[in-house]
Amino acid sequence: MNGLHIVGLSHAYGNKQVLNNVALMIPAGELVCLLGPSGCGKSTLLRLAAGLEEVQQGTIVIDDVTVASTDMHINPERRHIGLMFQDYALFPHLSIIDNVTFGLSGMAVDAVRRRARDLLDQVDMTPYADSYPHTLSGGQQQRVALARALAPKPKLLLLDEPFSGLDANMRQTIREETLSVLKRSGVATLMVTHDPEEAMFMADRIKIIGANGRILQAGRPHDIYYHPNHEFVAKMFGKMNRFEGVVLDGLVNTPLGSITTDLEDGLKVQVLIRPEGVILDNVGKTASPKVEITSSHLLGHDNIIRARIGNSDGEDVYIRVHHAFEVEFQKNLSARIDPEYAFVYAIDNV
Ligand SMILES: Nc1ncnc2c1ncn2[C@@H]1O[C@H](COP(=O)(O)OP(=O)(O)OP(=O)(O)O)[C@@H](O)[C@H]1O
Ligand SMILES: [Mg+2]
Repeated sequence: MNGLHIVGLSHAYGNKQVLNNVALMIPAGELVCLLGPSGCGKSTLLRLAAGLEEVQQGTIVIDDVTVASTDMHINPERRHIGLMFQDYALFPHLSIIDNVTFGLSGMAVDAVRRRARDLLDQVDMTPYADSYPHTLSGGQQQRVALARALAPKPKLLLLDEPFSGLDANMRQTIREETLSVLKRSGVATLMVTHDPEEAMFMADRIKIIGANGRILQAGRPHDIYYHPNHEFVAKMFGKMNRFEGVVLDGLVNTPLGSITTDLEDGLKVQVLIRPEGVILDNVGKTASPKVEITSSHLLGHDNIIRARIGNSDGEDVYIRVHHAFEVEFQKNLSARIDPEYAFVYAIDNV
């Protein structure tokens, strides 16, 4: 198979286990995001794939060639990989075009120039060919770093938090441009991020790594968001409403109504509901519990609302509504659960 294939990869620093039996497959043309909290081993996995770290246990194969296992190690420069880290690491003393041609050895001089010009063109940086890195903005440096990583036509591209140094607007633009350049190149890409939205936007598939260095879930962005198989995965996408209950006849009762589950009767469970999974209605339309809004914050497209359920002294619920929702006119409200955004887990499933 063309692309990256990792089997049974475990890694420890001293007696600290960082990666735990990780498997990963990225066919050519696909982009996989590793998403996980700080310190879970994302960069370690990338460094192992790059050959910057020696494999302790497991096997790494790139385009059907084993590049690392317990008893062998092919050096980074012979793995046909492109690397891009958060700080871009452009060579300050080289012009932009020379940065891009740097890794192109064994080609005729005019072919090298043509390849570099083509890549600068793809990332819209042709006018800066003779500039130096310190004269470019962060976004421009990122584009040059991408061109440099792709210039030698790598079999695998490894990106470690490539957009984290950019401001929100620039990040969105650069993400879109990068994705289009990568898809055109057909390279297999492994990208590390701890931003779930970024992973959703960029990835064909997402791998969620938990704090113990194990892969908790792998799937398309849609699967990860709508069918999180673990409370940790559900919580990656922000604040959740949480209620505890016990399964009875395939149902769990919460203060916002009941929800169905396949878990066995009598099991103690938690129900996690996304803020967009709490639906507000006018009282009278349904038999749902009354809620009273206690605060509202405009986030841009959406409002995030806190509301008290009935007269309870339990915790407020968080509700995400459209920005046009006029909080001050909303007096008689009730709330119900949209089951698409609600998930039930056994309490000991941590
Ligand atoms: N060379 C090293 N020697 C010892 N410990 C290390 C080394 N590199 C990383 N670690 C430790 O291994 C763990 C995983 O580090 P890693 O850099 O892979 O995490 P990460 O998921 O990339 O985190 P972040 O999101 O903060 O970049 C951390 O606890 C880190 O302190
Ligand atoms: Mg890291």
